[in-house]
Amino acid sequence: MNIWPLTAEPPLSVGGVSFTEIAERFGTPAYVIDEEHVRHRCREYRKALHPHRVAYAGKAFLCRAMVRWVEEEGLWLDVCSEGELALARAVGFPPERILLHGNGKTPAYLAAALDYGVARIVVDSAGEVARLAALTGDRHHPQKVLVRVTPAVDPHVHQAMATGVEDQKFGLSLASGAAADAVRRVLGQPSLTLAGLHCHIGSQIGVPDGYETAARRLVAFMAELGGLPELNLGGGHAVAYRPGDRGLDVQTFAERVPRAVAEECAIRGIPEPDLTVEPGRAIVAAAGVTLYRVLAVKHGVRTFVVVDGGMSDNPRPALYGSRYTVARVGHPTGARDVPVTVVGRHCEAGDVIASDVPMPGDIRPGDLLVVPCTGAYHHSMASNYNLVARPPVIAVLGGRAWPLVRRETVEDLLRRDVC
Ligand code: LLP
Repeated sequence: MNIWPLTAEPPLSVGGVSFTEIAERFGTPAYVIDEEHVRHRCREYRKALHPHRVAYAGKAFLCRAMVRWVEEEGLWLDVCSEGELALARAVGFPPERILLHGNGKTPAYLAAALDYGVARIVVDSAGEVARLAALTGDRHHPQKVLVRVTPAVDPHVHQAMATGVEDQKFGLSLASGAAADAVRRVLGQPSLTLAGLHCHIGSQIGVPDGYETAARRLVAFMAELGGLPELNLGGGHAVAYRPGDRGLDVQTFAERVPRAVAEECAIRGIPEPDLTVEPGRAIVAAAGVTLYRVLAVKHGVRTFVVVDGGMSDNPRPALYGSRYTVARVGHPTGARDVPVTVVGRHCEAGDVIASDVPMPGDIRPGDLLVVPCTGAYHHSMASNYNLVARPPVIAVLGGRAWPLVRRETVEDLLRRDVC
C-alpha cells in the first residue's frame, strides 16, 4: 500500500497513473485520490476494530463517490451538516447507518435528518433535547440519541483541535453536571431513547492514552446511569504527514482502548457497551495528493517557489501550523537539493504550503510538484479566497483516472453574485 511520505523517493504515479498524465489531462492544481487506498483503510479499520462499529467522519472528505465507497465497505457515515446529509441521501446511503452531529443544528437540518430517518443523533446542548422532542413527538418509534460529553481530557494537540477539554464549544461538561442534566432531559422525553454517550477529544492524536482516560470517565458516568447500550469515542486518529511523523496505529488503539472500557465496566459492574469510533483523517488523508505547477521561483533571503494553488486549497498550514513535504515530479537532473519555501498565489504572507523543504536547485516555472497526504480536510476545507476557483478531485484506480468533482470555473464563481 502507498505509505508515502515515509518512503525516501517520492513515487511518480498513484493508482497506476503518472502524475504527469493527470496534470496534463486535468490541469493543476488538482486533488488526486486513490480509491484502492481509501477502501484498504476502510477494511483495515473494520478488521482491526471488529466487532466494534466504524463510522467514517465525512467532514474529512466527501463527494458522491466517497459516500459510495464508504457504503460498499460497510462503514457507518458521520455527517455534520445539511449539505453532508443531502449528499449521503442523494447517493442513497442507508439512513440506518447514519450518525448525525453538529453543535448548532439548524431546524432545516434536524427536520431533514428526521425525515430521512437517521440512526443516531448526537445531542450537543440541553436546548436541543426539547427541540428534538417537539419534532419527534408524534412518532411511533423513538429517535435514538447519544449525549456528547466533554470528559476534560487534554489530547495535547493544536488548540483548535482539542475538543475534550472544558474550555471549548463542543459537548456537555461532565464535571459541571451539564451532561447529567442533558441525560435527564432525554430520559424525560418519550419520543427519544438514550442509546448512549459520545465524546470526541480532538484530532491528530498520536497515542491512545487520552482515549483510555476519556473512555474510563464515560464508563464511570454510564455506571451512574445504570449502564447504557452504546459508547462512541469519536475520531481524531493521527496520520503521518511527513517522514518521521507519528500516526496512531489502529491495531494499538484496537488492543488498548476497548480493553480499558472492558476493565472499567468490570470495576463498575455494568455490561460493556457497543463501541463506535469515527475516524475521518485516518481513512482518507494518505490516499490523497495535490498536484501543483510552479509559476515562479524567487531568490532572496530564502528561495520561494510559487505554485498555482495555495491556502484556498490547503488552509491547514495557516490554520494549525501544519507541516507538509513537497517533491518535484520527475526531471532527475542531479542538481543539488536546496531548501525552499513553497508558497501559494494568494495575497497573504501566511500563504505557505511548506517551509524549508529540499528541492533540486534547478527548480523552475512549469515544473510539476506533488504534496502527499492531502486527502483529508483539503477538498472539504477549500475556499474561494481571492476569487480563486477550487481544484477538481480526480480519482485513480488500476491505471485509470477520472474526475469525481470537476474544476470550479470563473463562471461558477460569478453565478452566485446576483446583484
Ligand atoms: N468525530 C467528530 C465529532 C469530529 O468533530 C471529528 C473532527 C471527527 C470525528 C473526525 O476527526 P479525524 O479522525 O478526522 O481527526 N479540520 C481539521 C480537524 C478538525 C476536525 C474536526 N472534527 C484539520 O484539518 O485537521
